[in-house]
Amino acid sequence: MSGKSGSKLAVVGAGSVGTSLAYAALIRGSASHVALYDVNAIKAEAEVLDLAHGTQFAAAAATVTGGGDISATEGADVVVVTAGAKQAPGQTRLDLAGTNVRILEDLMPRLLEHAPDAVYVLVTNPCDVLTVAAQKISGLPTSRIFSSGTVLDTSRLRWLLAERAGVSLTSVHASMVGEHGDTEFPIWSGATIGPVPIRNWTVNGERIFSSELLAETAREVTQAAYKVIAGKGATNYAIGLSGARIVEALLRAENAVLPVSTLLDGQYGISGVALSLPSIVGHGGVLKVLDTPMDDGELASLHHSAETLQQSLATLGI
Ligand code: 2OP
Repeated sequence: MSGKSGSKLAVVGAGSVGTSLAYAALIRGSASHVALYDVNAIKAEAEVLDLAHGTQFAAAAATVTGGGDISATEGADVVVVTAGAKQAPGQTRLDLAGTNVRILEDLMPRLLEHAPDAVYVLVTNPCDVLTVAAQKISGLPTSRIFSSGTVLDTSRLRWLLAERAGVSLTSVHASMVGEHGDTEFPIWSGATIGPVPIRNWTVNGERIFSSELLAETAREVTQAAYKVIAGKGATNYAIGLSGARIVEALLRAENAVLPVSTLLDGQYGISGVALSLPSIVGHGGVLKVLDTPMDDGELASLHHSAETLQQSLATLGI
């Protein structure tokens, strides 16, 4: 599959996340033109060359451009923002909020000059907090500025469940929602493997997904980034692939259901906070936040996530 003809993806930030995302987009054929921009021109130009040298082997013909001039983003259909400070071992995503909001205050107006019609996807953390900040800075409709949210965490969840159940990852239907951070949680009440509710899944005649194993699986997902950061200093490949997947849903007008993070306006009684919920992503952005059934415990977790994010926004004066 290839991106629609003339589809341009601009990736802002040529660090490990931005370059992994650009690389994933090339390999998957997510866009016909991948542009990379970073204030560090020498690094950005070198990354562009390195990616361009491999385009012969990409999934579909693609152009790679970019460097240290923001005009690299000119006319982009989708802009993915990965620029900003990243978590050091021991830091939470929310610890990065102040620094990265200031970066967005400088960046967003300049990006909008060059890519006024783009859909903006924020990957920089804390992505939920930054979604609210960027929407306020830009004035864009909430459908056109959102974040990757728990798309990656959902992939982590499905991978763990598939391993434990002994089935293909694509047959696992389960989502992480809420904050892309410590208060995120899985919607177990709706999780299935094929059509089988997760708690009914058996291996050798035994139901394997006890409450304890489900709780442990959720904990492993929430701790996953900390584990990777402790070992290698950052996460990059999985977020790169997740970002490329979101880009495809946008550029191919897929109407795919993905748990992205958008600024809510009354859904589940929550307003003024962005968090992840299964949503329809297609041409032009987030077309709908789905009204996904949750049990009372899950609803309480959702509100706990919203309150945590609200506190972070209040601290920043947003
Ligand atoms: C991740 O979850 C750190 O947010 C980044 O991999």
